[in-house]
Amino acid sequence: MEESPHSDVLILDHGSSTIRAGRMASAVPTLEIPALFAMGESGVRLVGVDALILRADRPLSPVFQKAIAADLSCVEDIWTAVTTKLEIKPSCTGLFLLDNGTAPVSQRKKTLELAFEKFAFRSAVFASTPVSAMYCTGGDTGLVLECGNSISQTVPMYRGYCIGPGMMRTMIGGADVTELLAQRLLSKGAFPGKNFRLAANEAKEKYGSTANGEEASTAVDVELPDGKKVTLQGQELKEPGELLFRPGNFSMESDGVVELCMKSVARSDLDTRAELYKNIILIGGSTLLPGFAERLRAGIKAAAPGGVEVNVQEQHNRLISAWMGAYIIACTELFQALAVRKEDYEERGADIVSKFYLY
Ligand SMILES: Nc1ncnc2c1ncn2[C@@H]1O[C@H](COP(=O)(O)OP(=O)(O)OP(=O)(O)O)[C@@H](O)[C@H]1O
Ligand SMILES: [Mg+2]
Repeated sequence: MEESPHSDVLILDHGSSTIRAGRMASAVPTLEIPALFAMGESGVRLVGVDALILRADRPLSPVFQKAIAADLSCVEDIWTAVTTKLEIKPSCTGLFLLDNGTAPVSQRKKTLELAFEKFAFRSAVFASTPVSAMYCTGGDTGLVLECGNSISQTVPMYRGYCIGPGMMRTMIGGADVTELLAQRLLSKGAFPGKNFRLAANEAKEKYGSTANGEEASTAVDVELPDGKKVTLQGQELKEPGELLFRPGNFSMESDGVVELCMKSVARSDLDTRAELYKNIILIGGSTLLPGFAERLRAGIKAAAPGGVEVNVQEQHNRLISAWMGAYIIACTELFQALAVRKEDYEERGADIVSKFYLY
């Protein structure tokens, strides 16, 4: 018997640090795969957790550099792992693929080929994480600020539509914050051995914060993979997160997150601005840095016209809100309306993807 169009959907968020996957049976992603690969002894590529298990003796490489796939066959290996673990039969399943919007169209076309030619999914939807995350809020108007691993970006939305001229982006994200912390550890005698950067990333997530005017937190000892301990003072733990707010202080010619928000609002219609200021929605892991939301709110309040109401929404689920928004779309008729069906692809080829991207 023919499956109903909504029988199942695999939702995959291609993050540069974590790939999140799950199907319709659960409203949250059930698989979180580190976006890393390593070559095993026999020349077999290991992806995700399998690569991490090997991390003691094999160098790890990212599956995505920013949003660019180093090698699409890595993506294929990830999908194979996901479909196997989640027991997915692609010919009965729609694919909902999320990325942060920076993947080039050429890559999206190849991904569509992969979806239909190799995996034979029955349909596919492509969407950007900020737009998808808006569906998770239950609202349709606001300024989404995403600070993930690879980039920072703002997307103003009004009554469900993106305000194109107001979309702003910098190529600075959590990976760059980690790199600054790693440099600090190196300057204090750390050895850049295997997995040193993973340890620096862990230290950032555990102890990092932003300079939000509070007293500097106490010093911590960061333990490195070689067993050595390096002490970082409170101020040194706040400094890397500053990159997101003041890239100029680190010789990077780029806007900080406050400027991204201000430019987005300024490029949006006058009569939408008050609602954008009132509903600034944070998504992405780097917005979890302690003090981020307060710092952002204070910066915008200082730069915005007097008397304007500025609200920064800190959803507790902001690491997975894009995935959850996709889940909400997948539960509605909108999924079918947005989907490229396998038959459409066979008739019109991979170029069809440029017409079917939800931004
Ligand atoms: N508690 C935390 N404090 C600070 N940074 C964090 C925290 N939790 C996660 N991060 C950082 O957030 C980033 C991951 O965020 P996210 O999962 O949104 O990115 P992604 O989807 O993998 O990548 P992309 O930016 O390509 O979409 C990493 O740099 C991670 O170190
Ligand atoms: Mg992401």
